[in-house]
Amino acid sequence: MSIKNVRLEVMQFLEKNIDSFVENYLIPVENIWQPSDLLPDSQNENFYEDLKELREIAKDLPYDFWVVLIGDTITEEALPTYESWLMDVEGVNQVENGGNGWSKWVRNWTGEENRHGDLLNKYLYLSGRINMREVEITTQHLINDGFDIGTDRDPYKNFVYTSFQELATYVSHNRVSQIAKQYGDKRLSKMCKLIAGDEMRHHHAYSEFVNRIFQVDPSEMMLAFQYMMKQKIVMPAHFLRESGQKIGEAFEQFSDSAQRIGVYTANDYVDILRKLIDKWQIDKINGLTSEAEKARDYLMKLPDRMARISERLVIPEESHIFKWVTPALIK
Ligand SMILES: [Fe+2]
Ligand SMILES: [Fe+2]
Repeated sequence: MSIKNVRLEVMQFLEKNIDSFVENYLIPVENIWQPSDLLPDSQNENFYEDLKELREIAKDLPYDFWVVLIGDTITEEALPTYESWLMDVEGVNQVENGGNGWSKWVRNWTGEENRHGDLLNKYLYLSGRINMREVEITTQHLINDGFDIGTDRDPYKNFVYTSFQELATYVSHNRVSQIAKQYGDKRLSKMCKLIAGDEMRHHHAYSEFVNRIFQVDPSEMMLAFQYMMKQKIVMPAHFLRESGQKIGEAFEQFSDSAQRIGVYTANDYVDILRKLIDKWQIDKINGLTSEAEKARDYLMKLPDRMARISERLVIPEESHIFKWVTPALIK
């Protein structure tokens, strides 16, 4: 049987448990938080006072913090790119027989994710510190530009990517939450903490899918993991640009801001890799082909190798001035 057919068979096998995945890893619509729970209620007569307080507290947040929060928001706002990519993965089908179990998973995951950009966008708008038009231009560019995460339509590679990425977004939203708290912004801290909680559940789901694939197709799963780590996990916003820029031009500067304030660093990348290796018990997987054994050896050595390289990384001290943030308004 061809590699592609085996993958389809494995996807069909896992699909039998879709309802339990949705039940265990996602929260029913009626029970989950919504952006409005965290924002001043515009129907309430205290709205203006609440808003004034939100804006007062926002005045203390520093420049790199805003850059990172905006970049994170734009990344979340490009959700149409991610949903359409996942719908196109082998084994996911939204058409035949009203859509299969995997398309249900993707839709329900998207429904949860959609709240993240919604909440952050409204917060940025209300804060009064941001050039929203520039942010919106970047978001539209990013959706137009799409992305290429190097996974092809392969479910194994895609689930490695999503396992990694959900954990990376957990780390980054969680750190933003901690920094907001240090600056006394309890509301923003809570918002980002709740978003981080969603990302962690999603990480658990995708890494469980990989776990189950390791049980039935270990060699191919190992090779897919190696493939993804060899070419490195690119961030979903790697094509980020500001108005008037070329594709991807703003990404590195955004990423420098994130490194400078410790929201997401090269060390975090290595840490996430270690966590995945532990979670999937890569050292204990049996029945591998000799090629997959070699892939395992490569993966086991990779975190230390990458840690040595990341020690040598130098991050510029000066912030790039983004059009998204009006410097006169920020400390
Ligand atoms: Fe998200
Ligand atoms: Fe996510």
